[in-house]
Amino acid sequence: MPVSSHPLSGDEIAFWRSIRKQFYLKDNVTYLQGGTVGPSPRPVIEHVISLLQELESDPLNNQGGSLLNPIVEESRRKLALFVGTDPQRIALVINTTMGMNIPVHGLSLEHGKEILMSDQEYGSVIRMWEYIAREKGLEIRTVSLPTPPENPDQVVGAFAQGISSRTQIMVFSHVYCSSGLVTPVKALCRLAHDYGALAIVDGAHAVGMVPVDITDFECDFYTSSCHKWLLAPKGVGMAYIPESLESMRPATLGFGLNQHGGAARFDVSGTRDSTHFAGLGTAIDFQEGIGWTEKIRPYCLGLAAYLKSQVLEKISTANLTIPVDTEQSGFMTTFTIPGIDHGKVASYLWQDYQIESASVQAGSTPVLRISTHFYNSYDDIDKFVSALVNILNTRPDIKD
Ligand SMILES: Cc1ncc(COP(=O)(O)O)c(C=O)c1O
Repeated sequence: MPVSSHPLSGDEIAFWRSIRKQFYLKDNVTYLQGGTVGPSPRPVIEHVISLLQELESDPLNNQGGSLLNPIVEESRRKLALFVGTDPQRIALVINTTMGMNIPVHGLSLEHGKEILMSDQEYGSVIRMWEYIAREKGLEIRTVSLPTPPENPDQVVGAFAQGISSRTQIMVFSHVYCSSGLVTPVKALCRLAHDYGALAIVDGAHAVGMVPVDITDFECDFYTSSCHKWLLAPKGVGMAYIPESLESMRPATLGFGLNQHGGAARFDVSGTRDSTHFAGLGTAIDFQEGIGWTEKIRPYCLGLAAYLKSQVLEKISTANLTIPVDTEQSGFMTTFTIPGIDHGKVASYLWQDYQIESASVQAGSTPVLRISTHFYNSYDDIDKFVSALVNILNTRPDIKD
């Protein structure tokens, strides 16, 4: 994957500045927290608002679906193309939490079997599998992820330590929210299948950050939150459901229980506002209009590479908790500074510099997580690193 080289030309800087102007982001805020929730570009929000106005002008008629259904289906088609599958295989859900509930409630879990996951899955994902495991009499087995791993084989090796013929389900993240690690999805799916287990992928951070080709991965389930890196309106998620699992019991029962209705039978259902799903298509158009593969991804990988180099150069005690190579890392950079309270550092970054960052745990290691997307600039990174150095030098209360 090509990575944009630094320094950028004047034209390139002007280009990305003009893109940044298409967001509502405040000029005085340095937003390095797109991993939690991404800002939607203006054209996305304007489209949603104009649809809302039209909808409200004739609510009964428009709620019937004639206005929004074709636009929402177009969004489903664009999303399916973006993630390498067929629209028939995509359910439109509110978020990864709702998406992950589909296999949790829909699969026939066997008493006495095991659910395998790592120690760095997202909290709500761990809890929902723990809950159903308790209810159905399965055990949860947890493997520890190397942070950072030296190569993708080490990640497969970590899961291989915990898998056995008792494993019915293997749950793992495509991109870990803890460290930013990008996993070898295809190899992990193969490992699960070698033991007769289902490969259930939490892709919350992947869509819009790393290339996603669901057909190639051969996973049994994949879910993502499109309001993170794809910059869709908040409350837009997806779930991929293969034909083999299409007859599962949906987590929410309502209309759409037709066993042969495709993955859409798992869509969010009942009376609701669908305009944000219409905005999903606009969000994809926005990124594809710039060129996700040719422009956005190389630019963002360039930002991440620069951030890693600056952290290592300017903070001698910092250790990266994310690999440097772009096979195992994307747009989230994490590092740890021993002896420092990362939560306090993040608070000072906001309080004194209006820099949004995240303090999270990668297994047992506390880390600072910095998300950089194409609305960010190299100046944002310089500002962040210099603020961090100042805090480390001037705030004695951040010591653990
Ligand atoms: C890895 C991972 N999985 C699942 C989720 C849940 O996503 P949502 O809140 O959009 O349902 C998150 C949220 O940050 C996450 O990071």
